[in-house]
Amino acid sequence: MLSKAVQSKLNEQIQKEAFAGNAYLAMATWAEGEGLPNIAEFFYNSAEEERQHMMELYRYINANGGVAKLGDKLGKVKDKFKNVLEAFQQVYELEHSVTLAIDELASWCQQNGEHATFFFLQAFVLEQQEAERNVTEILTIIERMGYEPRNLFYLDKQFKKINQQAAEGTEG
Ligand SMILES: [Fe+2]
Repeated sequence: MLSKAVQSKLNEQIQKEAFAGNAYLAMATWAEGEGLPNIAEFFYNSAEEERQHMMELYRYINANGGVAKLGDKLGKVKDKFKNVLEAFQQVYELEHSVTLAIDELASWCQQNGEHATFFFLQAFVLEQQEAERNVTEILTIIERMGYEPRNLFYLDKQFKKINQQAAEGTEG
């Protein structure tokens, strides 16, 4: 049985994963509007990943005698960006804030004797490390290829490769 305290912390994390999913969907809409289909695909895939993280937490709570809840106050997401660089800087901010939340949650579990949940969270800790590494690599690619209108055709094309690598799990 999960304690009330750990349940409420896991439920908070559910909201954060759901918010991240919504943020990625807004970015997908923005990228579609800019005529960047492969970048939009990257955002759709990221939104699905966040949904998966949310589902894992949701199922974990319910499977262990808790009550999982998705609240109705997820907050407003950013849906306008100056350019591709700004959009991915936003991705970094988003992922970094999730990293801080997961790290804090894992530390709390460790300090409060919540060993099973601490172990359960290890996959999340490592995934956040990978997510930050990936977005840092993408920021480098954007800076090197350029993100002016004349660079966007090739930059978007590059995301076809990035998406394929992510699907094969060979990135990093
Ligand atoms: Fe996540």
